[in-house]
Amino acid sequence: MTDRELLLLAQEASEKAYAPYSRFKVGAALECVDGSIFTGCNIENSALGSTMCAERVAIYKAVSQGEKDFSRIAIYGEGEDYCMPCGSCRQVLTEFSKDMEVLCARGSGGYVSYRLKELMPHPFRLGDF
Ligand code: THU
Repeated sequence: MTDRELLLLAQEASEKAYAPYSRFKVGAALECVDGSIFTGCNIENSALGSTMCAERVAIYKAVSQGEKDFSRIAIYGEGEDYCMPCGSCRQVLTEFSKDMEVLCARGSGGYVSYRLKELMPHPFRLGDF
């Protein structure tokens, strides 16, 4: 699958976002090394701290289905800026992949690509799992 195809899946996933409070819809498409794809969208809550990011919805869906080896994640946000993963999502991605690709797209078109190591150079780790 090309970067563009994965980004399109992220954009489609963003259409399912439940974001009545921020009105900022995010979608993620997570590719596993075996080629399987898991998508997610942000799901907000009136208790704002209970909101969940699109990336972690996709990651938790994958892990709950037995997939823990990730190769790429595409993130789409409808804003003007590239939609970067928040710190919590970087930490959770790092748990399962030390150096996957992270594609960050914006609503106005285009994307930037990083390695997770660049975005999360000194993660917290508990032991050597
Ligand atoms: N959001 C994500 O889905 N992913 C991120 O990495 C950053 C933020 C969502 C959470 C909230 O619903 C909205 O964007 C505004 O913060």
